[in-house]
Amino acid sequence: MFEPECVGIRIAPNGVYNGMGSDDFRESFLYYARRFSAYKLGYIHVMIGLGFGFHNKGKPMTIAELKKEFPGPIIANVGFDADSAEKELSAGGADLVAFGRPFLSNPDLVEKMQEGRELRPMLPMEYWYTSKENVWTSEGYPSPKG
Ligand SMILES: Cc1cc2nc3c(=O)[nH]c(=O)nc-3n(C[C@H](O)[C@H](O)[C@H](O)COP(=O)(O)O)c2cc1C
Repeated sequence: MFEPECVGIRIAPNGVYNGMGSDDFRESFLYYARRFSAYKLGYIHVMIGLGFGFHNKGKPMTIAELKKEFPGPIIANVGFDADSAEKELSAGGADLVAFGRPFLSNPDLVEKMQEGRELRPMLPMEYWYTSKENVWTSEGYPSPKG
């Protein structure tokens, strides 16, 4: 039996990737959020930050706007570090914050954040996929001790 609360959805209302971004992005994504609410989905994961490219079709969408339409948990993502994540959570914005690229250069990200240790900087895009001239290396994916 399908349990809708076991399903989450990921959206990128501000994103430009793969040709995204339309003049009615705000109206569209708020409508989607209302539908997700009606379907009683478990959560929405939102690429809210602009660090992966912004379509510039209007004021960037905020978590607060989506919160008005969707009562369940909202996870914010893109460009967060420990401080900005804390601010987002304590300001009553998102319910959770997700990290992507910081994990690539810091496989021990959780421990480092918990202990307030300095993070290794995020590596540039050419390191995200580690094939260089078809030779696969682990250069962009250091071990926790590396
Ligand atoms: C190597 C790499 C691969 C990714 N692949 C996907 C993907 O297949 N689907 C997706 O929705 N996001 C993908 N993303 C985006 C991440 O899920 C995340 O949204 C993005 O890195 C922004 O979060 P961050 O600023 O914490 O890194 C990818 C990111 C990276 C760095």
